[in-house]
Amino acid sequence: MDELRLGLNIGEIPMANGRRKIAVIGAGNVGATCAFVLAQMKIADIVLLDIYEGFAKGKALDLSQNSNVLNYNGTIIGTSDYNDISGSDVVVVTSGFPRQPGMTREDLIGKNADIVSQVGAGIRDHAPDSVVVMVTNPLDLMTYHMQKVTGFPVERVIGQAGVLDSARMAHFIAMELDCAEEDVSPMVLGGHGDTMVPLPRYTTVGGIPITQLISEERIAAISARTASGGGEIVKLLERGSAFYAPGSAAAIMAESVLNDRRRLLPASCYLTGQYGLDDVYIGVPCILGSNGVEKIFELELTESELSSLQKSGNFYKNQLSEILGY
Ligand code: NAI
Ligand code: 2OP
Repeated sequence: MDELRLGLNIGEIPMANGRRKIAVIGAGNVGATCAFVLAQMKIADIVLLDIYEGFAKGKALDLSQNSNVLNYNGTIIGTSDYNDISGSDVVVVTSGFPRQPGMTREDLIGKNADIVSQVGAGIRDHAPDSVVVMVTNPLDLMTYHMQKVTGFPVERVIGQAGVLDSARMAHFIAMELDCAEEDVSPMVLGGHGDTMVPLPRYTTVGGIPITQLISEERIAAISARTASGGGEIVKLLERGSAFYAPGSAAAIMAESVLNDRRRLLPASCYLTGQYGLDDVYIGVPCILGSNGVEKIFELELTESELSSLQKSGNFYKNQLSEILGY
């Protein structure tokens, strides 16, 4: 009855046997947006945890009052107590400082690494069986750090970047062709930063590679705008960074894990030799299911595509050792 009245919601599977739980750490712009999108999916109870208890409680109360309007199915609570995340199936981590104009994501390393250390200990101790979806920047480094802090198997710690970066590329392509966004299947790999690797050869519209639809020059411009897409928004906002698309991207990943949807998405995964890279987290195509990263795909890349991906991976490998001491 409920489903009939509401129509189709993204990823909706009614909570049947036992309630499921998603924790979102950080109740700021990205965290609250992620919780809002997850609530509309009606797939789990949601716990919003922030270091500022009142902030988390206020956001959760506001979201809960939306339940009557949007008819959620489940509870949303705000807290600063890690006991409340126990039993979480998925934990989305958004706690950390966002960029301000003039800053790179890498400028956030020191402060956010301390936050990830603290949050990671809470997750390890209170939600030891969860799959962690990282959002905190610099994304690929913080995902690596979270895996080390929790000691979770590498497939259970994943970074959100590729879904967002690909969605940005898709938007620019849809604008270029004046076509429906939903027909664009984009693919952006590599790190979530200046070294990201948009892959036009693997980006299609209605199954047709964009290399057959858009000139080389325009594709280069779209790829460049995609790589600096986060910075473009930081500059416009003048305070903080993007959150609607990032929060939604993290929610989509959490849903694929929670419902074992096995979606093939680009995500920051731990590499063990794929693409000639190892002991680093970097964006690659993977299947996301109930165990986290179920499979990583190695695409056939041209020499130049592979070299861009390796350059990106090696950039983060160096930062891991030089700045984080790994
Ligand atoms: P925000 O400032 O709005 O929210 C961050 C929240 O984290 C704040 O509410 C703060 O109180 C909380 N927090 C800080 N320390 C904490 C701790 N130790 N424990 C629990 N909560 C804590 O920032 P916003 O815009 O939500 O961004 C969050 C992070 O996500 C930033 O690092 C940002 O750079 C990153 N980001 C990553 C994206 C990606 O694609 N991977 C995209 C957009 C943002
Ligand atoms: C973004 O890409 C800043 O990582 C954030 O919008």
